[in-house]
Amino acid sequence: MKEKILITGCAGFIGSSLTKKLLKNKNFSIYGLDNINSYYDLNLKKNRLRELVKDKNFKFFKIDISNKKLILKNFKKYKYNHVFHLAAQAGVRYSIENPEQYLNSNLIGFYNILEAIKINKVRNFYFASSSSVYGDKKKFPLSENFSTDFPKSFYAATKKCNEVMAYSYSSLYKIKTIGFRFFTVYGPQGRPDMTPFSFLDKHFRNQKIKVFNQGKHERDFTYIDDTINLIFKIFKKTKSKKFKSKFEVYNIAGGKPNKLMNYINLIEKKLKKKIRKKFIKKQPGDVLKTFADVKKTYKLTKYKTQVSIGDGITNFVNWYLNYYKKK
Ligand SMILES: NC(=O)c1ccc[n+]([C@@H]2O[C@H](COP(=O)([O-])OP(=O)(O)OC[C@H]3O[C@@H](n4cnc5c(N)ncnc54)[C@H](O)[C@@H]3O)[C@@H](O)[C@H]2O)c1
Repeated sequence: MKEKILITGCAGFIGSSLTKKLLKNKNFSIYGLDNINSYYDLNLKKNRLRELVKDKNFKFFKIDISNKKLILKNFKKYKYNHVFHLAAQAGVRYSIENPEQYLNSNLIGFYNILEAIKINKVRNFYFASSSSVYGDKKKFPLSENFSTDFPKSFYAATKKCNEVMAYSYSSLYKIKTIGFRFFTVYGPQGRPDMTPFSFLDKHFRNQKIKVFNQGKHERDFTYIDDTINLIFKIFKKTKSKKFKSKFEVYNIAGGKPNKLMNYINLIEKKLKKKIRKKFIKKQPGDVLKTFADVKKTYKLTKYKTQVSIGDGITNFVNWYLNYYKKK
């Protein structure tokens, strides 16, 4: 019997790449769920999905996770063995203007998924958390055992809540649960609201990019292929009966922070053009630096991230120029 896997947020950046990876394994039946909301370019989501539905081993449902009735009905019908819950309202800055969307998708929606998992006795639950749960720390690298009590945005607060909600269900109902703390994932087909995508969009519209905090922010940029390899290795190890722990969180990153200005310089080098910039002060909700401690993740996976920031930017810029027919 094939193992049944549900991926929520399958039309999203990370969700679609994970779905593609899991579809390569013929021991799995893959199901995907997404509400295809218009937070960013719908065509990008539809194109990602178009690729996935070509595979006969993939079944798609257009459902909003805040609709408990539909979620429970779907879980009852398909009886999943494993669930990867990636659907969420993402974005730090957007959460300051639109907190309600985060309440509906990230808290109510997350609760609905937990209930469906409990009722249908799903074996393994994997969910997306974020490096933003660490807030502004003075000590680096950021280790999974650091406190996460001071989120700087409502988005980060919802991700912190997800971790504690998931912990309570895991301990009450013995659900094996793993949280992924993603660190600034980037690459081809990435999110238009994030760098480097947003920088290229502005550049080709002949607008100045906004460089917050004078470009002094540092981020542990993580290439999409490395992200997916880490998720897959964690999945393989933790779904085994030999893995006894009922609840863990893992940093998903390379542990190699980069200054934002360095990142912009790499994009300019690849484009062979200067990008026009407007330097702006730090924005509410932004953290100054992320830099992951990857010891715990490495101990489990024995995987070191492989794609350098230079190669990652090159791959992204090539994809962007080709996808949008730019020169
Ligand atoms: N990309 C990153 O760098 C990053 C960093 C930290 C955490 N994360 C988290 O990882 C997950 C995936 O992120 P991503 O970058 O792929 O984002 P994304 O926005 O590309 O993907 C999220 C998907 O979820 C869907 N969705 C949103 N609300 C929904 C709802 N109510 N019902 C059903 N579907 C819904 C969206 O349509 C979208 O396709 C999210 O939970 C995000 O918060 C991402």
